[in-house]
Amino acid sequence: MSSNKPLATKKVFIKTYGCQMNVYDSDRMADALAPAGYAATQDQNDADLILLNTCHIREKAAEKVYSELGRLRKVKGERAALGKETMIGVAGCVAQAEGEEIARRADVVNLVVGPQSYQALPDMVARASQGERVVVTEFPDEDKFDAIGMTPKKVLASRGPTAFLTVQEGCDKFCTFCVVPYTRGAEVSRDVAKILGEARAMAEAGVHEITLLGQNVNAYHGLGPDGEPWSLAKLLHALAEIDGLWRLRYTTSHPRDMDDDLINAHRDLPQVMPYLHLPVQSGSDRILKAMNRRHTGDEYRRLIDRIRQAQPDLALSGDFIVGFPGETDQDFEDTMQLIRDVEYAAAFSFKYSPRPGTPGALMDDHVPEDVMTQRLHALQALITSQQQAFQQSRVGLSFPVLFEKKGRNPGQLVGRSPWLQPVNVQAPDSMLRTMQTVTITHTGTNSLFADLTESGQTSTVEPLLEAAS
Ligand code: 5AD
Ligand code: SF4
Repeated sequence: MSSNKPLATKKVFIKTYGCQMNVYDSDRMADALAPAGYAATQDQNDADLILLNTCHIREKAAEKVYSELGRLRKVKGERAALGKETMIGVAGCVAQAEGEEIARRADVVNLVVGPQSYQALPDMVARASQGERVVVTEFPDEDKFDAIGMTPKKVLASRGPTAFLTVQEGCDKFCTFCVVPYTRGAEVSRDVAKILGEARAMAEAGVHEITLLGQNVNAYHGLGPDGEPWSLAKLLHALAEIDGLWRLRYTTSHPRDMDDDLINAHRDLPQVMPYLHLPVQSGSDRILKAMNRRHTGDEYRRLIDRIRQAQPDLALSGDFIVGFPGETDQDFEDTMQLIRDVEYAAAFSFKYSPRPGTPGALMDDHVPEDVMTQRLHALQALITSQQQAFQQSRVGLSFPVLFEKKGRNPGQLVGRSPWLQPVNVQAPDSMLRTMQTVTITHTGTNSLFADLTESGQTSTVEPLLEAAS
């Protein structure tokens, strides 16, 4: 990184699609570009550089990129009429999967950068501004976040009291539906010392909640300061020691990597929130096998029982795919039964989408679109009823909420419950970035409504913004 930092003279607008890891990456791309003189903007018409941080997980997600590039052609033209240049870049998983093809299909694109190469952005932008079309989709050995360097404290503080922190990337599981092993590469864990350093810097900047991210986060096995690989449980214990970090979460986990230490961390560490995203994808053993998930429905049920013994008050969330090749009515019914047995507080569900290069895309016996639609509706209705039951069970309860931002209505703040639902509360702005005890009065569709609990302040107002400036 250059030591003589130029003043920010240009603007970058980053549009993020897909998962939370992309959200974290977008912030880190902004960090990487700051020393090259780029300040982040929320206004794409004002941007000298527009980056699309893309997702390739399903066909629909990937298609969005090309329609957005069509729109950006107009923006570029309008700015050109005012004598302003605009550079357009495609980052993220579509960039990794399609590389040169994007530059060929969309001539509006100046640069294409895969998720493991963001440290190269300043150099790429410099080359692109000389008229070169630059494509970088390497998987270098170095930790890209190391090369980008630490996010300045002021910037961390400006991003709010809750933050993502990538600890692991890539995947070696090769589920037969999934592009991730191809777009994000092999499973890599970051070193413990680097994660703890980043977490401490976040805490000093006023971050009170960290969500550890990884495509397979519970397979984390980063090098510890003792020279040994550390598990996610051990990492959580070390993070729980950091002053000011009140809440820890992690996502996304694979059922096969849920070890006893991690389960017990939900019992032993008050900082570890009672929420777990543990996708099962299907409840049919036949389909689980075809998906290469390497566990059965009953093994998943037993695992959930063990986790609930450690933390009875757990909000469980999952992902489901309907219409995987060969899925029969009975297979789908097995999924519905598993959902009834397990009871989710939330879940994401998708129609199967064949992805290029994955084994699933070569399988026969594709499920007709109308059948997938019917199954998705039935599954979502069941999940919605479970989600509402979970939310309803919170009414009348009092618990701490970390206020993150202003709400839609005047005088309203929004925070998250320990179980991750947004909670809307009438509260003064001075309570932003603090944790307060609230009592739930009623539920909305996807959120809860609460009143401040009299005398129930669980933490004092922190001098965060002063500390951060
Ligand atoms: N088709 C549909 N859904 C998919 N997912 C991953 N790959 C596909 C695909 N090819 C879903 C899985 C995963 C979530 C992030 O996206 O449920 O857990
Ligand atoms: Fe989408 Fe997966 Fe890439 Fe995240 S890692 S952006 S979910 S393809």
